[in-house]
Amino acid sequence: MVKNSKSLLISLTILFFITMVTSKSPNFSQNLSLQALGLNKQEKLSHLRFYFHDIVSGPNPTAIWAAQTPTSKKSPTLFGSIAMFDDPLTVGPERSSKLVGRAQGIYGSASQSEDALLMTMNLAFVEGKFNGSSLSVFGRNAVLAT
Ligand SMILES: *[C@@H]1O[C@H](CO)[C@@H](O)[C@H](O)[C@H]1NC(C)=O
Ligand SMILES: *[C@@H]1O[C@H](CO)[C@@H](O)[C@H](O)[C@H]1NC(C)=O
Ligand SMILES: *[C@@H]1O[C@H](CO)[C@@H](O)[C@H](O)[C@H]1NC(C)=O
Repeated sequence: MVKNSKSLLISLTILFFITMVTSKSPNFSQNLSLQALGLNKQEKLSHLRFYFHDIVSGPNPTAIWAAQTPTSKKSPTLFGSIAMFDDPLTVGPERSSKLVGRAQGIYGSASQSEDALLMTMNLAFVEGKFNGSSLSVFGRNAVLAT
């Protein structure tokens, strides 16, 4: 009798342990309720307009070469060269107009036969309701394409 109750206790303990592990095991993914997150409202659209100043020469360039090799310098497209930039974004076309953000990122010449850049950047805003927000952009820039 003593032996039986002991094994029953052990079985119950194991069962409890398995139930606990099963109920607490995290799910890889789960469906979320948009209502519960307050995201079921109508989508908002914003239109941002700004001027992007990428200054590659002169006394105060905003884009600088970060990597170039003898081979990339000889390439007609500077293939393999990488630049980093920290470009002002302004509200008007003049460089002196109000700063609304900065475009900070990297571009690299990614084509051996045309002027095509691989670009990745953050648009970091400093003005109005978007102050502190950023947009990340990744893409191809076919520089001479119109
Ligand atoms: C995992 O998903 C199942 C099925 O939707 C759910 O019953 C369970 O509560 C979830 N577990 C956790 C830890 O969220
Ligand atoms: C999650 O949502 C998808 C798509 O609506 C549905 O097919 C699936 O059964 C849902 N899963 C759970 C655990 O509710
Ligand atoms: C943007 O936010 C920073 C940090 O909170 C603050 O110092 C700055 O004054 C703000 N700029 C504007 C134009 O609101």
